[in-house]
Amino acid sequence: MKKDIVYWPDPILNTKTKDVSKFSELLHELVEDMFDTMYANNGIGLAANQIGKLQRVIVLDTTEVVGGTIKQEFINPIITPLSSYFKKEKEGCLSFPGTYVSVNRHPYVKVTASDKTGQLIEMDMLGGIDAICLQHEVDHLDGITFYDRLSPVQKQIYANKFRKLKKRKK
Ligand code: NI
Repeated sequence: MKKDIVYWPDPILNTKTKDVSKFSELLHELVEDMFDTMYANNGIGLAANQIGKLQRVIVLDTTEVVGGTIKQEFINPIITPLSSYFKKEKEGCLSFPGTYVSVNRHPYVKVTASDKTGQLIEMDMLGGIDAICLQHEVDHLDGITFYDRLSPVQKQIYANKFRKLKKRKK
């Protein structure tokens, strides 16, 4: 079922999520709700704290984006960068509607996680939108939004822009 998205600056977006230990029916339901919520908002990734759940769970579907290959839930994901340099790319976020910012990300990563049944998932040499999206969502699980990754000057600019956008919506 579709859930409400938590918008910045809600403090839950800056709260670290907890590892999942039970791969129960409740977890399956959470994963389903997260996919429903992501698709309903035309997103390509979502972290559990973006619907108010402090669990280490993300969902991704990058298959409609050029170069994207992932349609998968990740429980307790761990990312390892495969390069020592960064690339800046524009990103959006469902918790910051209408806002796009350039963030430094590793161009290639690998990810280890479980699926919702507890089965091990390992994906090596992910690049492009897959790598960006994974880093963005795992940041959410650590209580970090893309806003937190900006310089102080950029923060000022984007905070003003975003507040104006929100006001216009009301
Ligand atoms: Ni996001």
